Amino acid sequence: MRSIDEQGYHFEEWLTPKQIAADVQQVANKISADYKDKEPLFVVVLNGAFMYVADLMRALSDIRCEVTFIRVSSYYGMASTGQLEFIVPLQQVVDQRDVIIVEDIVDTGLTIHQLKAYMRAHGASSVRVTSLLFKPNKLEYDDAKPDYVGHEISDEFVIGCGLDFDGFHRNLDAIYKVKESK
Ligand code: IMP
Repeated sequence: MRSIDEQGYHFEEWLTPKQIAADVQQVANKISADYKDKEPLFVVVLNGAFMYVADLMRALSDIRCEVTFIRVSSYYGMASTGQLEFIVPLQQVVDQRDVIIVEDIVDTGLTIHQLKAYMRAHGASSVRVTSLLFKPNKLEYDDAKPDYVGHEISDEFVIGCGLDFDGFHRNLDAIYKVKESK
């Protein structure tokens, strides 16, 4: 089994490239079916979702869509409508669009909760969410439950396929789970 050591933590391979490809394909099949007669706008949350969206785009079939990228920083303790700081701003008009937000992982759900409120406030016809990974036990915002999930995981920290530890290891082709600290 492949493993990585980083800053005193030991990570072991958990989802192989083959498993991830199968997870992405099942999500792509559902999205392709649900958006067959629509023209969705995928809004990709950087940095983590870059690898997931590249795989997802290639796995979609018979779908006419657009892709755009944002980078946000969210703050705790804000009102329910949320306040987002856009580090890379949204450059596409979402008014009357069917938006699909693309995330690497949904943890507490704060980012998605705030992004959904933003999209609705800016006139999106519909807003759904796809996330490669989802930690259901950590979810604090009901409306942030992703509609299309690659794989559910428990509370452990993971890296790889876009997910980082202090900015590193996004380039791993598998998802690695933290096992123990040394
Ligand atoms: P949320 O707003 O609490 O749902 O946080 C989502 C963001 O937290 C993700 O986009 C990741 O950047 C980060 N995150 C949460 N869990 C992990 C993890 O296990 N590994 C790497 N990043 C994570």
